[in-house]
Amino acid sequence: MIVADDLDKLGWARAHAAFDHRRVAFVPTMGALHAGHRALLRQARELGDVVFASIFVNPRQFGPGEDLDRYPRTLGADLEVCEAEGVDAVFVPTTEMMYPREPMVTVSSGAMGTIVEGAARPGHFDGMLTVVLKLFHLVDPDIAVFGEKDAQQLAMIRRMVADLSLPIAIVGVPTVREPDGLALSSRNRFLSPSDRTVALVLSRALRAGAEAVAEGPAEVIRRARAALTVEEKLELDYLVLVDPATFTDVGPGFAGTAVLAAAGKVGATHLVDNVHVRLGDESPAS
Ligand code: PAJ
Repeated sequence: MIVADDLDKLGWARAHAAFDHRRVAFVPTMGALHAGHRALLRQARELGDVVFASIFVNPRQFGPGEDLDRYPRTLGADLEVCEAEGVDAVFVPTTEMMYPREPMVTVSSGAMGTIVEGAARPGHFDGMLTVVLKLFHLVDPDIAVFGEKDAQQLAMIRRMVADLSLPIAIVGVPTVREPDGLALSSRNRFLSPSDRTVALVLSRALRAGAEAVAEGPAEVIRRARAALTVEEKLELDYLVLVDPATFTDVGPGFAGTAVLAAAGKVGATHLVDNVHVRLGDESPAS
């Protein structure tokens, strides 16, 4: 496995793959790798001839007062995970390499970047799209793999790829969970055992909402909200039932797959989760 800790090494690894006409599948990450990231790497391994990953904690997608400074950094263990998952090259840039000066031109996430998660974290999606576009240019993948756990991020990346005509196939991978339902997250390591119990309410509430699918969108939201309110220690940022492509609320007549998404803080830790809900298969109450 090549550990590309500068742009020359990355360029060399990429040129090597191009010379052999191999399809590059890419998994961008911020490290602290867990089984969710592993699922993405495995999907990339299946789809690509070569797998590139990146590990970069991108300062531009963290707001003031967020957890940039304490974000877990576990490079040694992460490289072992990549090696075990058959990654061919890992790009591990420094902040100076990615942002040698204050950028003047950045990606705007538009209206979708200001709603739901974007309303809870202003500027987050601009910073995220900017780094993903830079990584796409540097790695030049044929395929890029992202988790459905960050459903709005996935939607925004799909939209950027379409709107800016990037020749990259975007693949989503279902959320990997602990046996009790908690979605895996690099931030879970901040949770004390009692925080973890609080955090579990997110996935439990989403499941409860999804179980009401036959009764229509309003009931899905009502059931999920009812399950969330039993846990006072979760500071809820949002609970929404949205179109997965636009993240706008689905109306009563919506038919198709919607996303039931929730986020909140447990202590200082921001957690997000979502499930797919198939609406309109039965005749829902309006
Ligand atoms: P990070 O949080 O490290 O996540 C990297 C990828 O792993 C994302 O596509 C995310 O959706 C996916 N992922 C995280 N937890 C998952 C889980 N439990 N199941 C399945 N997939 C999961 O997302 C980012 O980094 C950054 O915003 C990034 C795209 C790298 C840009 O900086």
